[in-house]
Amino acid sequence: MASANGNVTVVGLQWGDEGKGKVVDALSDVCKYVVRFCGGANAGHTVRVGGEKYALHLIPSGILHEGVVNVIANGVAFDPAVALEEVGALVERGIPVGPENFRVSAAAQVVMPWHRLEDTLGEKRLGSRKIGTTAKGIGPCYADKARRTTAVRVADLLDADQLREKARRIVEIKDRTFAALYDAEPMDADAIADEYADYGRKLSGMVANTGALLRRAVAQGERVLFEGGQGSLLDIDHGTYPFVTSSPVTACGVPAGAGVPPSAVGHVVGLVKAYTSRVGAGPFPTEQDNEIGQRLRDRGNEYGTTTGRPRRCGWLDAFAVRYAADLSGAGEIALALLDVLSGLEELKICTGYRIAGRDVEDFDPAMMAEAECVYESMPGWQEEITGARSFAELPDNARQYVRKVEALTARPVGFIGVGPDREALIVHDSRLRDAQP
Ligand code: IMP
Repeated sequence: MASANGNVTVVGLQWGDEGKGKVVDALSDVCKYVVRFCGGANAGHTVRVGGEKYALHLIPSGILHEGVVNVIANGVAFDPAVALEEVGALVERGIPVGPENFRVSAAAQVVMPWHRLEDTLGEKRLGSRKIGTTAKGIGPCYADKARRTTAVRVADLLDADQLREKARRIVEIKDRTFAALYDAEPMDADAIADEYADYGRKLSGMVANTGALLRRAVAQGERVLFEGGQGSLLDIDHGTYPFVTSSPVTACGVPAGAGVPPSAVGHVVGLVKAYTSRVGAGPFPTEQDNEIGQRLRDRGNEYGTTTGRPRRCGWLDAFAVRYAADLSGAGEIALALLDVLSGLEELKICTGYRIAGRDVEDFDPAMMAEAECVYESMPGWQEEITGARSFAELPDNARQYVRKVEALTARPVGFIGVGPDREALIVHDSRLRDAQP
């Protein structure tokens, strides 16, 4: 391992959906803990194991590995209904889930029904100016976290009486607000309190002080993997604001979101799709709203894991990726979905932006709406590469493409994804010595 503590942080360097689940899955065997520190059920990971497909939103994909403790840390917007549904589905498929392998922070925020309602009604009201959220209540939940007096934390679910009192108080405020803004019907605070107290009972054995758990693990030298949700350009501070999600999703968000010191972040692996996709509204300079975009969407199955929405697709934006890699201090890149590019005559990579005829020196997400892309063209390859298991087995032009990504991001490409299956992964120039899947 490159870092002194052996920890690994995996973050997306684009707009999410970079295939983090697969790399986390590959690294889980060498880690004791896999930790979510941001976002919530807006994320979606698909992992394929032996032809079986697992779509997970909240529970880290480390759950598919024996002996790994999966942690939902304090920075997450935790939806207990979604979590319990995932637990049920996993148990049904023979994967045990309990306190030995799944822990939820008592301090994590709870996504309540009024958050989902506000997300949907608010977006509807915005019309063409909407953000295009996943409608999972993420933004309103984090807004209440910041407001403090209307927040519900996981610990609150464990005390039914207090929860009822809290729900009544919050619902009174929400009812008045939603009636005035959206003409909404009042909610049933007691029914909500009952439902969520029941979730609390079901989860109680798994609720923990995860900050203490993780700090102890770090102090004892146990290897921890921090799994980012979404992608860097959706970061609340450093993304394409306001078309972002509502939490810090880069490696900079790990210490606060998991309750560990910055030194615990360890070696950062930045996930990059071989092209770019984006769901929801907002600028996307390399978007190909044409047959190339459609081809990428079809071959890459670019439809949301969480919402089923078709994703917008386009060329790789290496200028943006370099920014995101620098921001998170990525030590290496994992290049995903390289197989999707097979069969294209010509490939383009954006190497920089021009605004008003002048080259841009420092990347800033705020400039993406008006940026004109500077492209470099590369010859494509016609062969299918899903069967390749080593760099040497890739066609010449695919190797050139990988080398170009390394040059433009100033980082080695450690992993190359060549297909949806767990095994379709080439370990190339990884700085993680014992990261063999
Ligand atoms: P929210 O996180 O549901 O509020 O959505 C805000 C923006 O982030 C929208 O553009 C969503 O499409 C996008 N988003 C949120 N989570 C993900 C994800 O896991 N992958 C891709 N986009 C996401």
